Amino acid sequence: MVKICGIGAGYVGGPTMAVIALKCPSIEVAVVDISHSRISAWNSDKLPIYEPGLEEVVKQCRGKNLLFSTDVEKHISEADIIFVSVNTPTKSGGLGAGKAADLTYWESAARMVADVSKSNKIVVEKSTVPVRTAEAIEKILTHNSSKGVKFQILSNPEFLSEGTAIQDLIKPDRVLIGGRDGPEGQEAILKLKGIYDHWVPEDRIITTNLWSAELSKLADNAFLAQRISSINAMSALCEVTGAEVSQVSHALSKNTKIGPKFLNASVGFGGSCFQKDILNLVYICESNGLIEVANYWKQVIKVNDYQKSRFVNRVVSSMFNTVSGKKIAVLGFAFKKDTSDTRKTPAIDVCKGLLGDNACLSIYDPKVSEEQILKDLSLSSAATTTVKQVNIVRDAYEATKDAHGICILTEWDEFKTLDYQKVFDNMQKPAFVFDGRNILNVDKLREIGFIVYSIGRPLHQWQDNMPQPQQA
Ligand code: UDX
Ligand code: UDX
Ligand code: ADP
Repeated sequence: MVKICGIGAGYVGGPTMAVIALKCPSIEVAVVDISHSRISAWNSDKLPIYEPGLEEVVKQCRGKNLLFSTDVEKHISEADIIFVSVNTPTKSGGLGAGKAADLTYWESAARMVADVSKSNKIVVEKSTVPVRTAEAIEKILTHNSSKGVKFQILSNPEFLSEGTAIQDLIKPDRVLIGGRDGPEGQEAILKLKGIYDHWVPEDRIITTNLWSAELSKLADNAFLAQRISSINAMSALCEVTGAEVSQVSHALSKNTKIGPKFLNASVGFGGSCFQKDILNLVYICESNGLIEVANYWKQVIKVNDYQKSRFVNRVVSSMFNTVSGKKIAVLGFAFKKDTSDTRKTPAIDVCKGLLGDNACLSIYDPKVSEEQILKDLSLSSAATTTVKQVNIVRDAYEATKDAHGICILTEWDEFKTLDYQKVFDNMQKPAFVFDGRNILNVDKLREIGFIVYSIGRPLHQWQDNMPQPQQA
């Protein structure tokens, strides 16, 4: 029986290993992590991450061929194939601070593999890493391992999206496996391919050299983020010209050279990957003297930051240039719908911007905990009880009651079907809606009486005798 060990039980490692266990009943999959609380959550009824369909998969396999453990050494030493899905955040200090990937966790995982391995292993890079990380990992493995143990390193980047992780894993667009050119490298590629062959059609499994696989993952995220910044840049132009960004997206989507996906204008992209991977790409370019290329990719992040601050400016300027002391309902805090993840969510910057203008925020998200929101806003829970500048509430009606304005920051389905007449009746007047995800029917809201700002739509021309919202 082939044994697999997954190091890192996070957003990538947890779901990926669970689906491998599901699809390969003959393979024993152990997921290990240094975090005791994470592992005990994986072993409980309340999993540490929310992902549609994940619970069912885990329940089906846990205790059979899927186990979660903190005994990292034991499971590494028993495994034939080791998937490494540890976190690779942006470095916060030292050389490359703010741009380069921090490989501390990766290095410590690799050292552990080297220390405890007594038989040959295939080590698979799952987490996104800078190009040529495999080379560094190989050095650590070969220089630290006991005599005679051989390692083959493969790059098998994960392309799942949060919120649709299980679906993406079960029916991937493609599986990418990069390995060394020699016979041993090719043999390792075939072994890993043999696992995916259980459920992925052969023509979807692409094999490349190590460096192409590593760079393809960074390129993938950079291209996706670039599309969002491109449509968001267009949204700013739409607002001042009278074009509608959804109409522009629709027209673009019909061009087969462009395609239909990732064309939704928004308050900005978030998530743990896009910004981190672009910064990483920028750092690699700069380190290799490719300054023009670095500047090209940097602009994707600049436009994203601009989109978030443009949104805050629009809220403040529309509400007569002041939100001081005004209650603003924030609907949605996760970086996208169907996830509880808030890493790099645009909601953090928008909320901080509004708090900077002394707004009082009433925040509701169906899946994000109060504790997480307060942590992200660098507030202690005392802030909610004493200062009352931020309140985390349990539903959208409570959040919007007596509010002056509503900011939609995550596209949760339930926000589309709220009773907006009821919401309007309970709000201060004039009642504003700022739709940062373009999910609401603007005409209907305007009929009810709301003043509506929707990303990339011509501004609401309301009563002539009232001050017009200024251009942000
Ligand atoms: C373009 C648009 O494709 C078309 O929709 C529009 O109506 C007119 O402009 P055209 O300029 O005729 O059409 O050629 P196109 O095939 O788009 O190529 C434009 C340039 O890009 C060429 O120099 C081509 O060699 C180059 N190109 C195209 C690349 O370098 N790489 C590619 O992947 C595609
Ligand atoms: C992304 C990549 O899609 C995935 O391939 C990679 O493996 C990990 O990073 P993820 O971050 O989970 O996945 O979510 P994604 O759906 O890509 O959305 C990222 C951000 O872009 C979200 O904040 C989302 O709201 C935003 N977005 C996405 C838009 O603003 N407009 C769009 O059209 C699409
Ligand atoms: P991602 O979104 O990339 O999956 P996460 O932060 O959700 O990132 O998960 C990474 C996990 O890796 C964390 O649970 C962390 O505790 C774990 N981890 C980091 N370093 C090690 C290590 N050396 N051994 C085992 N687990 C590790």
